[in-house]
Amino acid sequence: MSVLCIYFCADLSNICPIMQDKLKKLREWFNDFTASFLGESDFVDENVALKQCHTMKVCQEMNFLTSKVGIKGDGAILAEIIALLHDVGRFEQIKRYKTFEDAKSIDHSKLGIEIIDELGLLSDFSALEQKIIKVAIAQHNKKELQLSPDLPEECLLFARLIRDADKIDIYRVVINGYKLYMKDPDKFNLAISFKSQDDGKCSPKVVNALLNKESINYTDLKNINDRKLLQLIWLYDINFTDSLKRIIERGYVDFIVSQLPETKDCVLIKKTINIYINQRLANNA
Ligand SMILES: [Fe+2]
Repeated sequence: MSVLCIYFCADLSNICPIMQDKLKKLREWFNDFTASFLGESDFVDENVALKQCHTMKVCQEMNFLTSKVGIKGDGAILAEIIALLHDVGRFEQIKRYKTFEDAKSIDHSKLGIEIIDELGLLSDFSALEQKIIKVAIAQHNKKELQLSPDLPEECLLFARLIRDADKIDIYRVVINGYKLYMKDPDKFNLAISFKSQDDGKCSPKVVNALLNKESINYTDLKNINDRKLLQLIWLYDINFTDSLKRIIERGYVDFIVSQLPETKDCVLIKKTINIYINQRLANNA
């Protein structure tokens, strides 16, 4: 029986207390580690709190997904550990560079893995578990999921899970941030870039990417509407139908669509997204 199968088939009652203990210790470490970044400035504090909250929410989303996908036992705990550690690099990033934009600072997943290695956080995990955790973290923020064929088969599953769990909560973070920004741009203190005020435009490159179901680079985003389109493009990258359902049920797609300008392009975009969602839900894929 492959390890993947063991992760799927293990009964919840068979959770290994050792794995539970590892998760408990990592949670305690995470709380202490992230608290150590507080106190430098209001800006850093607010953004550290944002990522602390995001991490807890991603853990919850991950638990939701593993229960839906049928991953139990140690596999579910491993998935939660990935969620807990996936953004560890964000705290050093905001401290060092005062931004969450990787393009302007550093690849935060790479930085996170460096921190994990330096501190030996995974030293009591098996070689396979370490590989699964690190690959999932390294892949969680990449434009597209790209795994080398020589990696163990389990890596793909956990990388897909964290990419979805992360995105589900990023919708919440970005939409909340957007609402705060629109309310009072001068008081906005979060390291989420909205680029510029709404100029009523969408860049043709971003519109075409969305209509052709292609991914886009962050550097191609030129205005606040492009950013909304990016969030719709993310829907193409959602791996599990249950993730897509959750994003829709929470009203994230409706909100983003409602904020688009009334242009011909955006009418077409709304239609394209609607068709895509209906097809995915109908196919349950
Ligand atoms: Fe994240």
